[in-house]
Amino acid sequence: MASLPFELRGKTVYVAGHRGMVGSALVRRLAAEHVELLTTPRNEVDLRDQAAVNAWFATRRPQAVFLAAAKVGGIVANNTLRAEFLYDNLAIASNVIHAAHVHGAEKLMFLGSSCIYPKLAPQPLREDSMLTGPLEPTNEPYAIAKIAGFKMVEAYRSQYGADFINVMPTNLYGRGDNYHPEYSHVVAALIRRFHEAKVAGAKEVAVWGTGTPRREFLYVDDLADACIHLMKNYSDSELVNIGTGEDITIAEFARVVAATVGYTGEIGFDASRPDGTPRKLLDVSRLAKLGWRASTKLEDGIRLAYQAYLSEIREPAEC
Ligand SMILES: NC(=O)c1ccc[n+]([C@@H]2O[C@H](COP(=O)([O-])OP(=O)(O)OC[C@H]3O[C@@H](n4cnc5c(N)ncnc54)[C@H](OP(=O)(O)O)[C@@H]3O)[C@@H](O)[C@H]2O)c1
Repeated sequence: MASLPFELRGKTVYVAGHRGMVGSALVRRLAAEHVELLTTPRNEVDLRDQAAVNAWFATRRPQAVFLAAAKVGGIVANNTLRAEFLYDNLAIASNVIHAAHVHGAEKLMFLGSSCIYPKLAPQPLREDSMLTGPLEPTNEPYAIAKIAGFKMVEAYRSQYGADFINVMPTNLYGRGDNYHPEYSHVVAALIRRFHEAKVAGAKEVAVWGTGTPRREFLYVDDLADACIHLMKNYSDSELVNIGTGEDITIAEFARVVAATVGYTGEIGFDASRPDGTPRKLLDVSRLAKLGWRASTKLEDGIRLAYQAYLSEIREPAEC
């Protein structure tokens, strides 16, 4: 295994999922590291295709890999596209992790998501609560696939001595988020709905669920910074939570988003929509011991996310 710190400078670095919210933040952050960046547009390499992934790794042989490609979505997408969430995420994790090992990648980081901890695990969620109880049923297929990815990383580390590491980001928001009306995560959904309500002069916006669940939100550029920090300075089999260590109710959060967007109407709550896990806050003490803390305040992050939303809806992506 490579010694620490693991230098990125001058290395070939592959960001899988570079057009996604996390992948594009990693690409922005890696610009400061003077790496040779490698990416795979989906129309060239579908990461579910084992032969295509192997052929690409055999030719390009990246030295470091950030595995930020996944089929991702909010409660509705996770709960309705259950087969796709299981198949796509199992295939992507399995193909990329195995090819990275076979083709000699020096280091790999696999990204999970805090929604894969057991539904009723004690809060704040510690890394060792993984697999200690039943999962949230609405996203069980996604969680099972991500847990399989974590286990692959652990197994390739222990059996082959591969320098592969696992990280567990909390809920993210920021540039490049998915604003799909049905399939988005809560932050993007609220930015969009409050913005549209403001433009339409609507008197009330109904927020999904009761508003009582507590959630933690991390600005995606902070996540990218944490990932680079851990890639350089961490090498162990234990996974590492990445979050702010602070949570807020969905109702309070909705008020912050509404104020940022400039929506002044009423905020209601549609209790017929599912709430999901009652509380989700990561214990970030391991990350703090490793020398990293989030730096973007929620109000600042939401302001930046809203600016990005406005530019993205005016200039939609080319495809
Ligand atoms: N968003 C969050 O709040 C959050 C929270 C915690 C953890 N994470 C983790 O962060 C990672 C990235 O999430 P994200 O929010 O950045 O998701 P995203 O914006 O949906 O991006 C996912 C990326 O994966 C690519 N991808 C998906 N299926 C692919 C396939 N079959 N072949 C090739 N590329 C494929 C997508 O390519 P296209 O651009 O072609 O679609 C996209 O670039 C995931 O592992 C997720 O679990 C996200």
